[in-house]
Amino acid sequence: MDYGKELMQHLTEAKQAIEKAGDNKSLQKVKNDYISKNGIISKYMRKMRDVPKDEKKLLGKAVNDAREAFMKAYSKKQEALRKEEIERKLSEEAVDVTLPGKKLDTGHVHVLNQIIDELTELFIGLGYTVEEGPEIETDEYNFEMLNLPKTHPARDMQDTFYITEETLLRTHTSPVQIRTLLKNTMKKPIKIICPGKVYRRDDDDQTHSHQFTQIEGLVVDEKTSLSDLKGTLLLMARKMFGEERQIRLRPSYFPFTEPSVEVDVSCYKCGGKGCSMCKHTGWIEVLGAGMVNNAVLEAAGYDPENYQGFAFGVGIERIAILRYGIDDIRSFFTNDLRFNRQFR
Ligand code: PHE
Repeated sequence: MDYGKELMQHLTEAKQAIEKAGDNKSLQKVKNDYISKNGIISKYMRKMRDVPKDEKKLLGKAVNDAREAFMKAYSKKQEALRKEEIERKLSEEAVDVTLPGKKLDTGHVHVLNQIIDELTELFIGLGYTVEEGPEIETDEYNFEMLNLPKTHPARDMQDTFYITEETLLRTHTSPVQIRTLLKNTMKKPIKIICPGKVYRRDDDDQTHSHQFTQIEGLVVDEKTSLSDLKGTLLLMARKMFGEERQIRLRPSYFPFTEPSVEVDVSCYKCGGKGCSMCKHTGWIEVLGAGMVNNAVLEAAGYDPENYQGFAFGVGIERIAILRYGIDDIRSFFTNDLRFNRQFR
């Protein structure tokens, strides 16, 4: 019997089976059939016992050669299958970078904060720093030390949410004036603004809100004058309403400033000629201001002979309403996204 020929025949068939194997599983089966304990090669190994001595060597070599040839073909195929698998995975998991992306719905700065940011930028440029104060205030800081004793009739100007007899929701950002003055024990020059929420007992409607936003300004040093205040207000008005604007100061009354002024800006709609926006006056009222009242300086331990200053308080909603023609102050707080997104 020519074992060599048989082996060649088996090897050829095994190689064909290898070629045909489409995946690792069928390849393993071929290997199993060929070289496992019960496989073809093992069968010929066992035959060694029966062949005559002089043929043993030849058969042994033939078996080894067949085994080696098989393993070579097997490894080659295994490598090929592995590459195929990688290719398949790569093409399956490929990312199409040309597909349009999903847009993330990000938020944006609220219109009131946009205005606060704008003004903050202006004042920081002028050398001011930003202060903060609590929304729950004492009667003392919110009124008393601002020259509004308990019996003062001007307290009625600001209907107050009282928490206890002595604590309240601040009705304006002016108590931060007091806090800043008291904090400044070295009596260094003061130049601060303070943006923040304030509260008044109003019934909410289109033009009234129990909560709104102010920016307080305070400058105190040894030589601040009304003309410094006017120049500062002019810068602010132009930043808010355009470079061509003018301002006008009208006498007014606040207990914590003397003299006090109401500040009008020339109408940004008609340029001052008169229109429905400015009720045909050419001017629009935008904020209150004045020179810090001596009584306030004294209450905070400053000698009015040596120190003077100015203060202003501006309503942020009012500026937004004027600038964008908003007809309902409640829109700022009800957070209808259709409203908010207009100011993206
Ligand atoms: N605190 C005042 C108000 O809320 C505004 C103001 C501030 C006026 C500072 C003068 C000086 O109405």
